[in-house]
Amino acid sequence: MKISVIGTGYVGTVSAACFAELGHEVICVDIDPSKIDMLNRGVPPIYEDGLSELLEKHVGKNLSATSNYDYAINNSDVSFICVGTPSDNEGNIDLDIVKAASASLGKALRKKKEYHVIVVKSTVVPETTEKVILPIIEKESGKSTGNFGISMNPEFLREGKAVHDFMNPDKIVVGSLDKRSGDIVASLYSGLNCEVTRTNPRTAEMIKYVNNSFLATKISFSNEVGNICKELGIDTYEVMKAVGKDFRIGPHFLNSGAGFGGSCFPKDVKALIGKAKEVGYEPALLRSVIAVNEIQPMRMITLLKNKIPDLKGKKIAVLGLAFKNDTDDIRESRSIPVIKELIEEGAIVSAYDKMAIENMRRIFPDIEYYNSAIDALRGADACLIMTEWNEFKSLDTEFSIMKNRLIIDGRHMQSPRKDVDYVGLCW
Ligand code: UGA
Repeated sequence: MKISVIGTGYVGTVSAACFAELGHEVICVDIDPSKIDMLNRGVPPIYEDGLSELLEKHVGKNLSATSNYDYAINNSDVSFICVGTPSDNEGNIDLDIVKAASASLGKALRKKKEYHVIVVKSTVVPETTEKVILPIIEKESGKSTGNFGISMNPEFLREGKAVHDFMNPDKIVVGSLDKRSGDIVASLYSGLNCEVTRTNPRTAEMIKYVNNSFLATKISFSNEVGNICKELGIDTYEVMKAVGKDFRIGPHFLNSGAGFGGSCFPKDVKALIGKAKEVGYEPALLRSVIAVNEIQPMRMITLLKNKIPDLKGKKIAVLGLAFKNDTDDIRESRSIPVIKELIEEGAIVSAYDKMAIENMRRIFPDIEYYNSAIDALRGADACLIMTEWNEFKSLDTEFSIMKNRLIIDGRHMQSPRKDVDYVGLCW
């Protein structure tokens, strides 16, 4: 099948490359010419494990990029909307980019005679496909459904593991208004070994939000339990390991620590809160999920100040800047509020991250950055572990280079030992 993918962020680029891998002919569309140029040279515009190999394999064969909507729509049967859906100042979903992409798609569709399917993959709150996107496409194309199809097909891709998750899904959800477009979208995934859940667009939209909100709830729940365990001298990891053996609970996403970040969980939970409010429901639990997540990074500072009450002039090593391991993404990273607070307290921050230094430099240009953990630790009065990078598990003699061997561990990377003063965030 011929597919166009609008938006070359991590969801769009990964979906495009993986659809190419499944044998489809794929055209990526973006308004940013530098991204188009990179893609056509086989260079990924973002880092994703396995992505550059897929681009190398398919660019110039069945994968290309353009900024020309007319060309892309004319040369494809199905278009995926994969543009970003950021939060506005109140935390509600900002649909401006989705609306602009829908209008451009609609305009291009006006010039096409054949049936075309539009698929919303961007994360949008329930009713958006039917009440916002569809009317724009109808208006701009001058056509009505039947002449074109519309479906909602959410993504469940973890950043850093997105190629793996696309190729090995545990669910594929297709919400369509009509059977014809739903059948076409479902058929695109026939090369994958996964049942397709068929439903309507608003249910598909809700499934995405509930999925992310439930995972975020698991994390905040684990953090709250962890905070209680800490006061009682109980290792919450031991507790959750046993609790996770219950098949109704499961062992995953029970890791307590500095909280969740990234471009999805904080934004999606807030957007669902906004939608609930819009329909007259007060989502107390979802609000608490966010509230606990705001508390966690500040607990790192509290634990640090229990040991060093005056941080002025103290050198504090921050290990880990990315919102999680294996990514350079710092959006909503829990290290951001921590560094902000350290600066306010007058501390000297020496930071290290395997991939995210350049991104963090844009937010904090004046702190010290180092290319290795040992360099960041040199002469430090304390060290805060903020990201679950694997390499932080094996840090050992490196701590001996610190002036004062105090570790506040926000990700359960280390365990108590004799030669350092070790403080676990929730254990
Ligand atoms: C998340 C979901 O896992 C994906 O299924 C979803 O498709 C994606 O959002 C999205 O909506 O696009 P992602 O944001 O890449 O993926 O990151 P996760 O791996 O889920 O981690 C999110 C955050 O939770 C990280 O900051 C991580 O450190 C934290 N986390 C995760 C915990 O604090 N504890 C855990 O047990 C697990």
